[in-house]
Amino acid sequence: MPYTVGYFIGSLSQNSINRTLSKALIRLAPESLTFEEIPIKDLPLYNRDFDADYPAEGRALKEAIERHDAVLFVTPEFNRDIPGALKNAIDWASRPWGTNSLNQKPSAIIGASPGKIGTAVAQQNLRGILAFCNSPQMSAPEAYIQFTPGLITEDGEVNDPSTEEFLRHFMEEFAQFVQRVLTVLPKG
Ligand SMILES: Cc1cc2nc3c(=O)[nH]c(=O)nc-3n(C[C@H](O)[C@H](O)[C@H](O)COP(=O)(O)O)c2cc1C
Repeated sequence: MPYTVGYFIGSLSQNSINRTLSKALIRLAPESLTFEEIPIKDLPLYNRDFDADYPAEGRALKEAIERHDAVLFVTPEFNRDIPGALKNAIDWASRPWGTNSLNQKPSAIIGASPGKIGTAVAQQNLRGILAFCNSPQMSAPEAYIQFTPGLITEDGEVNDPSTEEFLRHFMEEFAQFVQRVLTVLPKG
């Protein structure tokens, strides 16, 4: 400790509830964690023809992941999966072959939707992707947030005490998870 966390917002929307959720998570996180967003919106659609000469956007993404101790995914669910923009970013991060930036990088997943299952299906799919990328994932607690109007303010203040406590606990567990992983797998 302290650890730096690069976080991904799976939504490109200006009014993203997942971005709002990320503000709450940063507010509630223990002081041992610091945060920087890893932007995904300017990445072209990945294809392997880029591998021979990775463009600046792809290199910046990989460098951002590599300089952080851990990554946090805050993502919506689109048609029961993660948004294409986030999958595209992970594809960029995983290549060129042999330079997978997510390899051994501790990660956690959380997401919000207006619906009751709160991105559960997308998160399960993301777990499979991250497993293939060899990213050690925090498996518990899981966090499926139903985002009701007013739950979190634009500034990231949580209006519901039980949700606030749950999110604080999630971030404390994440800090401990990162410490455990990096104790046995020191950052390269
Ligand atoms: C293309 C599309 C697909 C969606 N599919 C789902 C879904 O499978 N499950 C769900 O809970 N919400 C779904 N929604 C609703 C989103 O949860 C909602 O738009 C949410 O605000 C998106 O997160 P964001 O505000 O961070 O962009 C979908 C929305 C869009 C635009």
